[in-house]
Amino acid sequence: MAQGAFYPEDELFLEAVKLWDLDNLYIDIAEQKQRETQNKTTLTSVEKVYLRGLLCGYSPKKIAETLHRSSNSIAVALTRGLYRYVEALTNRELNSLTNWKDVSKWLEVAGYKMPQYHHDWGEAPEIYAFYGRTNEVNQLQQWISKKQYSLVGILGIGGIGKTTLAVKLANNLQGEFEYIIWRNLRHAPPLKQLLVELIQFLSHQQSFNLPEDINALISSLIKCLQEHRCLIGLDDAEQILSPGAIAGYYQANYEDYGQLFRRVAQEKHQSALLLISWEKFLQLELLEQKNNSTASLTLKGLPTEEAEKI
Ligand SMILES: Nc1ncnc2c1ncn2[C@@H]1O[C@H](COP(=O)(O)OP(=O)(O)OP(=O)(O)O)[C@@H](O)[C@H]1O
Ligand SMILES: [Mg+2]
Repeated sequence: MAQGAFYPEDELFLEAVKLWDLDNLYIDIAEQKQRETQNKTTLTSVEKVYLRGLLCGYSPKKIAETLHRSSNSIAVALTRGLYRYVEALTNRELNSLTNWKDVSKWLEVAGYKMPQYHHDWGEAPEIYAFYGRTNEVNQLQQWISKKQYSLVGILGIGGIGKTTLAVKLANNLQGEFEYIIWRNLRHAPPLKQLLVELIQFLSHQQSFNLPEDINALISSLIKCLQEHRCLIGLDDAEQILSPGAIAGYYQANYEDYGQLFRRVAQEKHQSALLLISWEKFLQLELLEQKNNSTASLTLKGLPTEEAEKI
C-alpha cells in the first residue's frame, strides 16, 4: 500500500466521528474480527465505512448506493463480517443481529456513543474571580454528583454570593450533565411559560404538540429529566414567593410551581434542579423534612480575608 494513497471511502460518513468513539470501536471490533478469523488483522477501510454509515443511520441499501456497489454484495459482507463482530462485542448470541439498526442501538448501550453536551446559560453571569466557599462548593457538588438530592436550594440574603456560587458549581459539574439550562425568575414567568422553554430545550425542539395541562407539561419535563442527565438552575426564585406576611409561600397564581418542585423531588429521574433564592420556600422545608431527595444550603458571609479580596 503506497503511503498517502487515497481511498474515497475514507471521506464518507464522517459525521460519525463526532457522535461515536470511533477510535475504540475500530480497535474493539477488530479484536472480534481477529478472534473469528484467527488472523491478526485490522478493519479494512471498506468495513470502516460500512460501520460509519450504519452508525449515521444509513441503511445498507443507501450505503450501497453511495459506494456504487450492489446491495447484495454489501448485505453479504455485513452478514459474514460486521454483524457477527458486533454481536460478539456486545455479548449477544450468534446470528441474533438481524436488523441493521441494531448495530447502533447495541453499540450505544455498550457505551460507544459520545456524550453530547447542550448548555444554555441564559442570563447566568460570567464568573471572573471566585474566592473561598470551598466547603460549600464541595458539599453541593457531593449532593449532586452522588445523586443524593435532586432538588437543591441555595439560600441567603441579597448580595451574599448565591448566584456566583451556583454558577461556579454548575461550571464544575459541566462534564457530568448532558444538558444545563439556566433561567432567571426575576420577572416571575408563569410556570407554563417556563415549562415550555425547558421542555423545548431539553427535547431539542422536538415537542411541537405540548399539552395544555400543567400536570401533563410537568410529566413531559420529568420524562426529559429521566432520559438525560440535566441540570436546571432557577435564579432569583424568591420572585415567585409572596412578599407578604408569611415567609415562604407562593404568590397568588404561582402555586403551581409547588407541583413542579414536589414532583422533581419525589419522582425518579437522573437530573437536578437548583433553586436559588433569598427566602426559603416553605415547601422546600417540608420536602426536606420528609426526606424527599431535597436539601438546601444557606450561605453566610465570606470570612473577612476573602470578603476583602472582593
Ligand atoms: N466567592 C466569591 N468570589 C468572588 N466574588 C464573589 C463571591 N461571592 C460573591 N462575589 C461577588 O459579590 C457580588 C454579589 O454576588 P452574587 O450576585 O453572587 O450574590 P447573590 O446572593 O446572588 O445576590 P442577589 O440575591 O442580589 O442575587 C458579585 O459581584 C460577585 O461577583
Ligand atoms: Mg443572585
